[in-house]
Parts: sequence; structure tokens; C-alpha cells
Amino acid sequence: MICTAPRKRGVHRYRQIEGTMKSYEALQGLKIPEHVAIIMDGNGRWGKAKGKKRTYGHKMGAETLEKIARIYSDAGVKYVTVYAFSTENWSRSEDEVGYLMTLMRQYLKQSIKNAKRDNMRVRVIGRREDLAEDIQASIAKLEDASKDYTGLNLQLAINYGGRDEIIRAFNRYQRASNEPLTAEVFESYLDTKGIPDPGLLVRTSGEHRTSNYLLWQLAYTEFYFIEKHWPDFSEEDVMASIQYFNKRDRRFGGIKDED
Ligand code: FPP
Repeated sequence: MICTAPRKRGVHRYRQIEGTMKSYEALQGLKIPEHVAIIMDGNGRWGKAKGKKRTYGHKMGAETLEKIARIYSDAGVKYVTVYAFSTENWSRSEDEVGYLMTLMRQYLKQSIKNAKRDNMRVRVIGRREDLAEDIQASIAKLEDASKDYTGLNLQLAINYGGRDEIIRAFNRYQRASNEPLTAEVFESYLDTKGIPDPGLLVRTSGEHRTSNYLLWQLAYTEFYFIEKHWPDFSEEDVMASIQYFNKRDRRFGGIKDED
């Protein structure tokens, strides 16, 4: 499903947050993707390029996430799903993994307040049983506290891998059901049950890969790649990504009447 750019209410909120309507005007009349998935790549390189540690990049990346989620929401996007920690990220140094987990703890706690402020529902996808118990408890608390909010739906992919999600979904299906397996039935066993597939995937930092992200859900998604590292991703980049989405000819494997 595609929405159009919000009118008055969106403009008002956008002004409050950003203090400008300039970028927002660029969206007037454009189709807005209902769901944007993001691979927030390049934090480590960004930190090093600033003469600091890789972890400094992650810290600033978390701040960028908060800002960018609000801007997509004000543009009219209903779902944003971000790759915060992959099933492969455990192979990084103990220091870096430890730092990311600490950042996660802070982020999840802070998100309870942010969710209330922004009327935002936050959910986590991924294999959560491998996470520390206090993190699992924070996730449960945040999901419960935000479950009735009706604004942006923010999905955090934590200890997430697309293949892992598909295998877990299949196992859940096998345990629970005798009904014939169809795509629709299978989708109801995925972590993203009830969440529409992304219309747009954004990946920063010049890499052109899916990196095991949302393998099932990205089947017909438009991909927007940008050289910038994630901490530098800006309001203008949000607008450019939506403009790019509007230039794509989405046919979902079919042909258009005029073809
Ligand atoms: C990829 O950059 C990013 C990650 C592995 C983690 C993303 C995490 C954040 C943006 C902040 C934390 C998020 C939450 C929700 C707390 P990279 O480290 O692979 O960068 P590189 O490609 O330069 O090495």
C-alpha cells in the first residue's frame, strides 16, 4: 500500500520538529512508501574517520536513528524497520559487542519515553531468546508500553537474520499447524506478522547487499543506496529517498496496462 504525503497535520508537526518546511514541500503530491526498511551501515567507518573509536559511530548512529524515524513518520511513512544488530554481529570484538549491548539497553529504556512523546509503537524482530535477560525484559516492557500507540510503527531488528527468521517461522508452523503451507500462511509465522512488506529499502555507506536482512519481505522492494555513512544521514536524504521511490516503476512482476 502506498500513501500520499500528509497535508496540514503533518506540515504542522514537521515544522515543530525541524523548524522548516522547505524539505517537506518537496514531498507534496508524491507517493509515500507505507514501510521503509533501513540498513544503518557505516557507523564504525564514520567513527574512525572522525579520529575516534568505531563505537563512537554507533553512539551517533543511535541518535541519527531517533531523528530519522521521526522525519520519515512526519513524511507519512507508517512503518520503519531498522537493522540494529544482526545474527552475524556477535563475531565482532568483545568490546564492540559489549558496547552495542549497552547502547541497546539505554536505547530501549529511552524509547519508552520517546514512544509516548511520539505516539509510536515499537516492536522487536529477531531471535530474542539469545539476548541477555535484562534486555529481553526491556523489550517486553517497551512493546507492552507502546502497544496501543497509533503513530509510527518502529521495528528494531535485534539479533536478526533473514534466514534465521525463515527457519524459525517454518519450525513454528510445523509445531502449530496442519494446514497447507501457502505464502500467506507462512507470513503469519514470520516475526513481521501483520506488518506490510517494505516499499523502500535504504542502505547507507556504499554497500549494495541485503546482508541477510528481511529476505522474505524484500521480494518487491525498491532499493535506495547512498554513499554516506549512517550517522550523516539527514532530512534531505529522507526526502531524496522518497523522491527516488517515486521514480521507480513498480510492477510487482506484472506489466502495466499501457505496456
Ligand atoms: C553497521 O555499521 C551498524 C551496526 C552493526 C549497528 C547499528 C547500530 C546503531 C545504528 C546504533 C544502535 C542501535 C540501537 C537500536 C541501539 P558498521 O559497524 O557495520 O559500520 P562499518 O561498516 O563502518 O564497519
